[in-house]
Amino acid sequence: MRKIYWRRNSLTPIIFLVLLICFITFITTFHINQESIISFIYHTPNNCDELARNSLLHQSTIPPYHLLIPYQEFAMRTSISCHSYKLDEPKKNPSKLHPRHSQYLRGKFPYIVPYSNITFNDIENFYTKILVTKKNQTKILRTSFASNISFENVPYIYINDMWHPVGVISAQRTAILIPLQGRDFNAKTFIFNIHAFARRQLLTYTILLIEQVHPLGHRFNKGRLFNAGVRYIQNQESLNITCLILHDVDLIPENDGNFYTCEPIHPKHTTIRVQQVGSKRGYTRYYEFLIGGVLLLTMDLYKKVNGFSNLYWGWGGEDDDLSLRFIQRRICVVRPSDGLAIYAALPHPRGQRNNARFNLLTWSTVRLDTDGFAQIDPMIRFVEIQKRSTVTHIKLDVNANEDLYKAPSMEEYQSLTDQTDEHITTTRKTIVNNDLSLIESTLNEKINEVDNLLPKVKHDHKSNKDEIASVTNFLEKAIAEHR
Ligand SMILES: *[C@@H]1O[C@H](CO)[C@@H](O)[C@H](O)[C@H]1NC(C)=O
Ligand SMILES: *[C@@H]1O[C@H](CO)[C@@H](O)[C@H](O)[C@H]1NC(C)=O
Ligand SMILES: *[C@@H]1O[C@H](CO)[C@@H](O)[C@H](O)[C@H]1NC(C)=O
Ligand SMILES: *[C@@H]1O[C@H](CO)[C@@H](O)[C@H](O)[C@H]1NC(C)=O
Repeated sequence: MRKIYWRRNSLTPIIFLVLLICFITFITTFHINQESIISFIYHTPNNCDELARNSLLHQSTIPPYHLLIPYQEFAMRTSISCHSYKLDEPKKNPSKLHPRHSQYLRGKFPYIVPYSNITFNDIENFYTKILVTKKNQTKILRTSFASNISFENVPYIYINDMWHPVGVISAQRTAILIPLQGRDFNAKTFIFNIHAFARRQLLTYTILLIEQVHPLGHRFNKGRLFNAGVRYIQNQESLNITCLILHDVDLIPENDGNFYTCEPIHPKHTTIRVQQVGSKRGYTRYYEFLIGGVLLLTMDLYKKVNGFSNLYWGWGGEDDDLSLRFIQRRICVVRPSDGLAIYAALPHPRGQRNNARFNLLTWSTVRLDTDGFAQIDPMIRFVEIQKRSTVTHIKLDVNANEDLYKAPSMEEYQSLTDQTDEHITTTRKTIVNNDLSLIESTLNEKINEVDNLLPKVKHDHKSNKDEIASVTNFLEKAIAEHR
């Protein structure tokens, strides 16, 4: 009895002490880490310019444990391309056609720039009537909206909102999404050409023009338009779209070997070289990090990165933000060869630039899950949906005059910081108290267990003793009898 009490009294303080030391070490290390990360984030800028650029950091509530990317430096140094990857080149499959086995591929695509008086009805009429009546495939057509149209009539049929090649099942079901604001003529030119292009590749496809209207703000939010377009597609379950093509309205592909198909596990970026229509200056190259222009990806990949950020107003930034999302999710991008990934760019006035983009990009990856496709619904209102077989024209209000996201003010930031500090302190206190009382109660439980066991052991011990005694007794008797 005494022995046990002596043990309990001497062991408990030692255990307490050891645990306490461990705990204090843990808390201190954690605290130091956190502080050094905070100081890393807030004190790294090494010149005033950079400090100004990162000023948004000071007004925001970015959790300190997130990776923040100094964007400009990052974009210059980082490669987003997959290094050892070959584009999907599937074998001929009679049940599902890949564009590379299409008999209508001709290489260079003879795009048409129509007269400025072309209408959406002209385009509809052309693909449902005029082209259909064109019997001799090499004959050049003249219409009231264009001259010298040399598009071939590939047999196509429009069923359930999708264009299907007759007698062929395409490997993918494709939606081409085109965000739009202003640039009406470019939209018509693009749609007029892209049907002929898609048909040469025997795609099963539909085309969505997603136009930002009402109020016609000066500021374009391409990210919201894409997110809304994808939401629309997702809601039309019968479309069963597997491949999304995010397409700028001013770019027309010039080679039909540039397959408009999605790769199974990588996004595909096909705008490598671009030439202004009618310009003699030749092609310019996109920078490696840029994935804007034309991007093809599966619905699954789109969801995996939570689509586009909804915060980029004006021209620029949202596509680089998407690059960062891919990097954050460890996704690399594939590209076709330089010779195929060529585009003609239609002229247009420059949009209003987004000057906040570098600030937004700096903490892009932090927002990934809370700013994107999953959050789009309250930010948009479908104003009008006009369906033609050649284009579904969605007019969309993206709340251009009301920013749903507001960076907190300095006061709010201060109070949030205080709250956070307080939260950390109280959490730490609760942890300490909880831990000690937990240890104490566990120890007490063990002591009670031992105490409860003791009488049993004593009892067992006593019965053992009795048994031994009786055996001894028996043996002694036996020995005595034997003698
Ligand atoms: C189409 O017309 C051209 C010249 O007018 C002729 O050489 C060619 O054989 C015709 N093709 C077909 C398929 O009728
Ligand atoms: C459109 O413009 C072209 C050339 O400017 C002209 O020849 C054609 O008649 C016009 N079409 C209509 C429907 O006005
Ligand atoms: C149309 O084609 C004809 C014959 O190929 C050519 O002479 C003419 O210049 C072309 N016109 C335009 C506007 O391309
Ligand atoms: C959608 O397409 C996939 C693959 O092409 C197919 O397995 C699935 O049954 C389709 N779903 C519907 C609702 O048509």
